[in-house]
Amino acid sequence: METRWLDGKKVAARIKSELSQEIRALTSGDMVPGLATVLVGDNPASRFYVASKTRACRELGMRSEAVELPAETTTEELLAVVHRLNESDRIDAILVQMPLPAHIDTERTLMAVRPDKDVDGFHPVNTGRLCSGNPGLVPCTPQGIMELLFREGIPLRGAEAVVVGRSNIVGKPMFFLLLQEHATVTVCHSRTRDLPRVCRRADILVAAVGRPALVTRDYIKQGAVVVDVGVNLLRDRDEVVRLFGDGSRKLAAFDKRGSVLVGDVHPQASPGWAAAVTPVPGGVGPLTIALLMKNTVRACRQRRGKAGTVSQSVVGGS
Ligand code: GUN
Repeated sequence: METRWLDGKKVAARIKSELSQEIRALTSGDMVPGLATVLVGDNPASRFYVASKTRACRELGMRSEAVELPAETTTEELLAVVHRLNESDRIDAILVQMPLPAHIDTERTLMAVRPDKDVDGFHPVNTGRLCSGNPGLVPCTPQGIMELLFREGIPLRGAEAVVVGRSNIVGKPMFFLLLQEHATVTVCHSRTRDLPRVCRRADILVAAVGRPALVTRDYIKQGAVVVDVGVNLLRDRDEVVRLFGDGSRKLAAFDKRGSVLVGDVHPQASPGWAAAVTPVPGGVGPLTIALLMKNTVRACRQRRGKAGTVSQSVVGGS
């Protein structure tokens, strides 16, 4: 079976080009959407993600404010920053990069973001809306996956979908979005009995557990669509050898750079077996950023009382 690569980069570029026209129209009417990012501490991966997000804003002609706080920031100090951004008329969307340092109260922080500026869709008002089928702002990664599935013409109505991973950021919102499109959805996790058997039910398998190369061929039904959300950076050569073997492309990449990026799906699991698969990198990652931009524009329109064409969005349209 010929396996199709689902090119997230290409779809993300298309979404951003649609958005850029819309942003031009907004800014010519003196309405420049503004995203604030808040980074606490110096986790290199978080720093990289936040930089990609503010770069995307600039490229699309939106305003961005990048707040950087030291690792020893207290919850109260972080809440004060969030309150200032909540009140700022120049800011339409607020993103507090996760994970926060362990001493910070994450729950209180997420609760403090105004729901209409909560571009991540993490506030209980937005999770509640998603769960009741009347979405407000929807988390970017699962929304990006839905855009990809729609735009690639993957049928969802009546399909068996299996989501591996139950995180608040991906697994749980993914469940509600697939359900809303009339898929039959199973969410499984590390305690699921006979995980490969449950996964083999899937017409659409979404792997979002953060376990490198966990999903091997015996997890995949022939002809399934496989979405790999994993972003695992391996720094241990022995682990790369154990997972992929001597002479593998992953090991060659590791030997060049001293680390290698690996998804939750084993690279040899899908080719010639699945109908379609998203690559890592270049699959889901770029879509997350594109959808963050789209959510920022939506938040801007809604807050400033100009309902508009972002509602063409395939999910969460107003
Ligand atoms: N950390 C990993 N993914 C995300 C995300 O989508 N949003 C935020 N704020 N932090 C993250």
